[in-house]
Amino acid sequence: MAAVAYVNGRYRPIRDAEVNVEDRGYQFGDGVYEVFYVLERRLVDAELHYRRLERSLREIGISEPLTGSALPVVIGEVIRRNRVTTGLVYLQVTRGVAARDHAFPSPSTRPSIVITARHRPAPPRIAESWAVAAITARDERWARCDIKSINLLPNVLARQAARQAGAYEAILYDADGFVTEGAASTVWMVDTAGVLRTRRLGNQILPGCTRAALMAALSGDGTAYDETPFSLDELRQAREIFLTSATSFVKPVIRLDGTAVGDGTPGPVSKFLLDRYIAHIEAI
Ligand code: PDD
Repeated sequence: MAAVAYVNGRYRPIRDAEVNVEDRGYQFGDGVYEVFYVLERRLVDAELHYRRLERSLREIGISEPLTGSALPVVIGEVIRRNRVTTGLVYLQVTRGVAARDHAFPSPSTRPSIVITARHRPAPPRIAESWAVAAITARDERWARCDIKSINLLPNVLARQAARQAGAYEAILYDADGFVTEGAASTVWMVDTAGVLRTRRLGNQILPGCTRAALMAALSGDGTAYDETPFSLDELRQAREIFLTSATSFVKPVIRLDGTAVGDGTPGPVSKFLLDRYIAHIEAI
């Protein structure tokens, strides 16, 4: 069965789906995106992703291409037409098509929207099989990383550096040596005192939906966490490190820059939170 994409009001086979060469996403990276995990044909944490999409669009002054219940209906149709039971939905909105000029085009320019869906394996049951290595890299991104912009060049370069080092993720740190986030994930750690930590929200990181869902689950369970930024040195001393994102759930990091994290296997907190998060998404 050929994969299908929704492109500006039409469902097209992906091989024929095209965007205009003057689309501002293509020319300027002038747009935003979302990635949803799909479990049993349902979107995980859908409301969190919709709210973040609305915010990203608002922050850069792009109007919503589909309003009200239209967006969930179209996403559901893309999932159905691609026969995705377990997988992901990618959604991208740009400022639309206009003759190239850096400043915004006429307000009547319609935003462009593309939605695709792909199969992905079911969530992991065994933390060991899901664990990865990471490298550290200087965060070279812009000052509004809270917007889920399609401008991902620094993230792409950091992920590629990780790949070339035989690792999965690049954990980024700012000019003061404090950890921001991963190239495409939120970074968490358990420090030497056993405290679960991840950086507080601000312009330097994306407000992760998995982060928010996990925090809600932790608060419900009465489990404490701390949002004080932590340094690269603290990260290197961590008992445990893990990543969160819509497609990596809770992913233990067992090697950092070639050195074992803790005893080099997923720690008890990472394992517990992976199970806790899987239980959360299975209950949706
Ligand atoms: N990335 N930080 C960055 C820079 C990200 O790109 C992502 C997600 C996250 C985690 O956000 P969430 O929990 O909402 O997935 C944090 C997606 C998966 C991607 O670009 O493919």
